[in-house]
Amino acid sequence: MNMKPIPVKEGNFNLKNYDETYNNFDWEEVKKNFSWHETGKVNIAYEAVDRHAENPAKKDKVALYYSDPNREEKLTFSDLKTYSNQFANVLKKYDIKKGDRVFLFMPRSPEYYMSFLGILKVGAIAGPLFEAFMEQAVEDRLQDSEAVMLITTPDLLERVPQDKLPDLKKIVLVGDTTGISGEQYIDFHQEMEQASDHFDIEWVDLEDGMLLHYTSGSTGKPKGVYHVHNAMIQHFQTAKWVLDLQEDDIYWCTADPGWVTGTSYGIFGPWLNGVTNVIRGGRFTPEDWYSTIEKFKVTVWYSAPTAFRKLMSAGEKVLKNYDLSSLRHILSVGEPLNPEVIHWGMDVFNKRIHDTWWMTETGGMLICNYPCMDMKPGSMGKPFPGIEAAIIDNDGNQLPPNQMGNLAIKKGWPSMMRQIWKRPEKYESYFVGDWYVSGDSAYMDEEGYFWFQGRLDDVINTSGERVGPFEVESKLIEHPAVAEAGVIGKPDPERGEIIKAFITLNEGYQESEELLEDIRQFVKKGLSAHAAPREIEVKDKIPKTRSGKIMRRLLKSWELGLPTGDTSTLEE
Ligand code: PRX
Repeated sequence: MNMKPIPVKEGNFNLKNYDETYNNFDWEEVKKNFSWHETGKVNIAYEAVDRHAENPAKKDKVALYYSDPNREEKLTFSDLKTYSNQFANVLKKYDIKKGDRVFLFMPRSPEYYMSFLGILKVGAIAGPLFEAFMEQAVEDRLQDSEAVMLITTPDLLERVPQDKLPDLKKIVLVGDTTGISGEQYIDFHQEMEQASDHFDIEWVDLEDGMLLHYTSGSTGKPKGVYHVHNAMIQHFQTAKWVLDLQEDDIYWCTADPGWVTGTSYGIFGPWLNGVTNVIRGGRFTPEDWYSTIEKFKVTVWYSAPTAFRKLMSAGEKVLKNYDLSSLRHILSVGEPLNPEVIHWGMDVFNKRIHDTWWMTETGGMLICNYPCMDMKPGSMGKPFPGIEAAIIDNDGNQLPPNQMGNLAIKKGWPSMMRQIWKRPEKYESYFVGDWYVSGDSAYMDEEGYFWFQGRLDDVINTSGERVGPFEVESKLIEHPAVAEAGVIGKPDPERGEIIKAFITLNEGYQESEELLEDIRQFVKKGLSAHAAPREIEVKDKIPKTRSGKIMRRLLKSWELGLPTGDTSTLEE
């Protein structure tokens, strides 16, 4: 199964020798890069922004190039400090305190990043929501987290069910507020104009909360993955060694901050290293993406297999109109990176695309391909120094090389989640002994490279976005025509997986194109576009266990024409 390795091509990297570095690594040494190493006073926003703004050699360096089809903006570290201080003062004025949950629900914009940093500066916990979420998805997350404040735009307000959110006291609106009245509303720009640009940061403990990312599992509502300031140790070092960030880099992470990649490596990784960060808003087109690289002379680019596959299928015709010679280092995350894509990258950029593996729960990269290391296309790479990874069986025993099992990580890495919000039993369920069990199946070869094989549960990965089948099923059965629903991920060459729903219809409903489209739109409007099933199939019955659980595995076997395996728990 192992292909011939692609040899190391590039030179001049920080992580010179993987084995030697891995064997001698100590997280304690990494802490010495931060001022709190001596004072014990910490705030991740200070380390990411203010520290550079207070350094005469760095304060005027561009921290953020923002661009979308209608707007171009450039902010230095000093600007970011000023604006985030102002926003922190706005939050303080409205009584936001350490530990409060303040959510962000809006498209990427310079204001997004000012607000995000301001939230951290007051010691509150930031909760980013993907801008495409619809009402139900917004409600579930704001309700569970008991968020007291939301930062959003007037356009998105209709998706916020305020009557169902008793804890939500204030809503900050970024944009034109004409015609919107109510004492809960705060006008972002108006408040910012009046706010002082001096702010005394709330110093917190390393173990204090800073971020709540909601993500999906195979059962139940989305869960709040809770991260603490201590995660910066890992963000900093992985960005240095895996993203290989260097002083003059222009870095672009394509992920939205609604997902963990967009915070850990779209905000913290680059800024903790004082590196210029490109943020591009707006929709994905191959032309826009290539022109972003050309315009900003992007050197380090972190994206996802779905995007690479889309660019690949756009072909040479688009590619040849752009000068992409600035690119030095390319990386990928979120889903399996196909060897074809790596070979395409070699052909068109003359660069390797480096796969990285991690999860919302892990907060930072864990298994990666490093610039210094031979790459085996199809493998996720090797553990980051300081990370002990293994393949284990269900009892927590380590399995020998080439045997498939649960991909697990020895607990205690700096950016590991510290809680599932308000669900301690859920948090505990991730661990077997000292191992954090990822839910991914994989094997390790004799040389210590890890190979992803699939999910062990029913979680769907569509275009790199994680979707819980339960959420989609729950929405489907709210449609008047739908009696029962079972949802699976169906393999797809471009998106990795697409969402396929099997449904039964209520009495009086007939299957038709229009009805199925109406059901699809219903999920799209209720949850989000990426959670809407691309395929819906009407069945007479949905297979369930005797205890009433939908047998998604059986649906999947039917779909793929595979043997159905053990069906002894099937009802009737
Ligand atoms: O199944 C794995 C897949 O994405 C899951 C984590 O999804 P999420 O929490 O949304 O975080 C995505 C970005 C960090 C994993 O359990 N996954 C992530 N990276 C890879 C991957 N699958 C294969 N190869 C990867 N490099």
